Amino acid sequence: MKQAAEKVILAYSGGLDTSVCVQWIRENYGMEVITLTADLGQGIDLDEARHRALAVGASKAIVVDAKKMFVEYFAFPALQAGAIYEGEYVLATALGRPLIAKLLVDVAKEEGATAVAHGSTGKGNDQVRFDVSVNTLAPDLRIIAPVREWTMTRDQEIEYAQKHGISVPVTKKSPYSIDQNLWGRSIEAGVLEDPWTEPPDDIYAWTTDPKNAPDEPQVIEIEFEEGIPVALDRERMDGATLISKLNTIAGRHGIGRVDHLENRLVGIKSREIYEAPAATVLHKAHQMLEDMTLSKDAARFKALVSKEYADLVYNGLWFCALHQDLRAFVVSNQRYVTGTVRMKLFKGACHVIGRKSPSSLYSFSLATYDEGDQYDQEAALGFIKIHGLSQKTQAQVQLLGQTTKLKELPSVTPPKMRKDALKVATAEEQ
Ligand code: ARG
Repeated sequence: MKQAAEKVILAYSGGLDTSVCVQWIRENYGMEVITLTADLGQGIDLDEARHRALAVGASKAIVVDAKKMFVEYFAFPALQAGAIYEGEYVLATALGRPLIAKLLVDVAKEEGATAVAHGSTGKGNDQVRFDVSVNTLAPDLRIIAPVREWTMTRDQEIEYAQKHGISVPVTKKSPYSIDQNLWGRSIEAGVLEDPWTEPPDDIYAWTTDPKNAPDEPQVIEIEFEEGIPVALDRERMDGATLISKLNTIAGRHGIGRVDHLENRLVGIKSREIYEAPAATVLHKAHQMLEDMTLSKDAARFKALVSKEYADLVYNGLWFCALHQDLRAFVVSNQRYVTGTVRMKLFKGACHVIGRKSPSSLYSFSLATYDEGDQYDQEAALGFIKIHGLSQKTQAQVQLLGQTTKLKELPSVTPPKMRKDALKVATAEEQ
């Protein structure tokens, strides 16, 4: 009796690459391919993806609406953490990968599969995020990454697809590599690989060119509870709805375009264009509320955590214990970040124009220059004396009146060894 083929669960987007992966895995690994398509709000038709998967040779096509999970476990925690990689990237793609990996692992267990597969190349961060997450959650599962493995050029891939009856979109394949979910859209490759070239307008799908954005600003209100957005314009709604509404509103005003020359984990600098209208407005509004509700020291320390958190997410280490530690800090740190922020959206920019919070640390009677001032200005004199004391002492001894020049920078590379210092033995001597 013929042995049943082993099963592999393939993360399937519905695009050409992953469609070709189905046939390629069957041919090269002799495995049965089950596809898994997760809806993270990238705007795909799940039914269509399911039919296409079966049409290109999957034995079973699974689809899952993971929007709620994505928002609650990934996007909003990252927002609370203030996680923005290198100060530019809200991490949309990076946050989606560990969730897809987790879903792959769950389905693999359910289906008795021995492997999972994804369509990432060998040059990006996504392969790392997938592989590390799967290895962490299910070390026994084998990982197949056809695109990393095959040696086909784009044209050969299309030829391969045609040979196997895999429909190739008639329109010339976009020269860009695009990944998107509710939190944002990432675009790379093609002409974008020249950092001097302005991104052509046709790469943008979610944002209006700011010069064509409405001539009237729009004011919106976002309400947060412990760092999580719960209402838009005074209407309470679930996170996925809030984000998608805000994507439309802020996108119309041209907000959230980012041109980032980023440091990939795999050692390459790459130029990526992002569109993240909702995430941009939410991060900004959230920060504005933190400015009102966090003490100076809490805010300063939180900024360190934000950076660590962003690096950890970017580097694919979502499922590590340090993440749990940082998350615990963030949750605690966010317990007073409750309130409402009013933002003005206009031609590509968003600005805070008002904020209020029941936990506000802003005190009118301390800040005012008008009547009602309760600040003790005389106490400032003594404070200034003590605050500047150490600097004043140092200046008198070390700085004032001295003309010492800076020394040449020490080199960290030792000089070449002199020839006579090299002890050389040849084989004959031995
Ligand atoms: N550079 C970003 C990251 O590593 C986005 C990668 C998205 N992939 C793409 N096909 N554009 O998270």
